[in-house]
Amino acid sequence: MSMPALFKGRLSIPVIGSPLFIISVPDLVIAQCKAGIVGSFPALNARPAALLDEWLARITEELAAYDRAHPERPSAPFAVNQIVHRSNNRLEQDLALCEKYKVPMMITSLGAREELNQAAHGWGGIVFHDVINQFFAHKAIEKGADGLILVAAGAGGHAGTISPFAFVSETRSWFDGPIALSGAIANGRAIRAARVLGADFAYIGSAFIATKEANAVEGYKDMITRSGADDIVYSNLFTGVHGNYLKPSIVAAGLDPDNLPTSDPSKMSFGTDASGERAKPKAWKEIWGSGQGIGAIKEIVPAAELIARFKKEYDEAIDPPL
Ligand SMILES: Cc1cc2nc3c(=O)[nH]c(=O)nc-3n(C[C@H](O)[C@H](O)[C@H](O)COP(=O)(O)O)c2cc1C
Repeated sequence: MSMPALFKGRLSIPVIGSPLFIISVPDLVIAQCKAGIVGSFPALNARPAALLDEWLARITEELAAYDRAHPERPSAPFAVNQIVHRSNNRLEQDLALCEKYKVPMMITSLGAREELNQAAHGWGGIVFHDVINQFFAHKAIEKGADGLILVAAGAGGHAGTISPFAFVSETRSWFDGPIALSGAIANGRAIRAARVLGADFAYIGSAFIATKEANAVEGYKDMITRSGADDIVYSNLFTGVHGNYLKPSIVAAGLDPDNLPTSDPSKMSFGTDASGERAKPKAWKEIWGSGQGIGAIKEIVPAAELIARFKKEYDEAIDPPL
């Protein structure tokens, strides 16, 4: 296990609030960081691109003010997610803004790039890269990422298929740096379990969709609180990459979630089109992503309340005697 110095004394629980397309906005990130977990957002959520400057200014200033008022328990660091894919034509511009604000942590997805890792190291930041198998995990570390996000089976959005048990232990056999485990973690006991498996952090996304600060329509938040693992379908139809989605949202779009056709991966749309906007927004605006862990989410609450619940459950979670 290996927790980078950046996080020491700044976390209430070992959790990274993962970046969620459309949903993660400054209100959510700031609430997460103040409550002691890493808050993050995809740079592409700030649209148009110039808005990223404003978002970074606001997050940096509000967290600095909070830290001045609470020197005994400063806020957790925040992270910006960069989609490193050829379709992302904002990457350079967004990276320059991350440098301007010396963003403490970068989360890269869909492609590991050496120059990006070096750039972040240059301003004192660290980089975690998200991967779905050992091949990409090795590649990320070879290219200079500091930490790995292991996206296991059952994760929301673009998920993998590997069991978290196998994924963490195989990775720990060659990597002793920081690991965040992603996929269907939505209660404090599961956060504890991720640590027992050998991960440093639990990486949690879907649970935060049902918070007051999340930028999601009420119907989406409600669906999270009413659904469980049986309501999730794994398909590559919507973006060209396999991911987990809420069946009721697929039904609402007029499709049969149990008989979905497969899609052509070469037509992947998880990026930006020429105008700098994501192509095919329908995939995230109407077909709603979610991981399998949401059976533990029963109500829409402020993010701080959800994090307090996680902390209580995490503190109470023990291995019962035989
Ligand atoms: C609606 C939705 C949107 C997502 N958008 C992104 C994204 O833009 N970038 C990214 O790296 N991961 C994205 N993810 C994946 C999450 O960061 C994370 O891996 C996942 O939510 C963890 O699993 P969980 O949802 O079961 O907690 C998304 C996930 C969901 C559910």
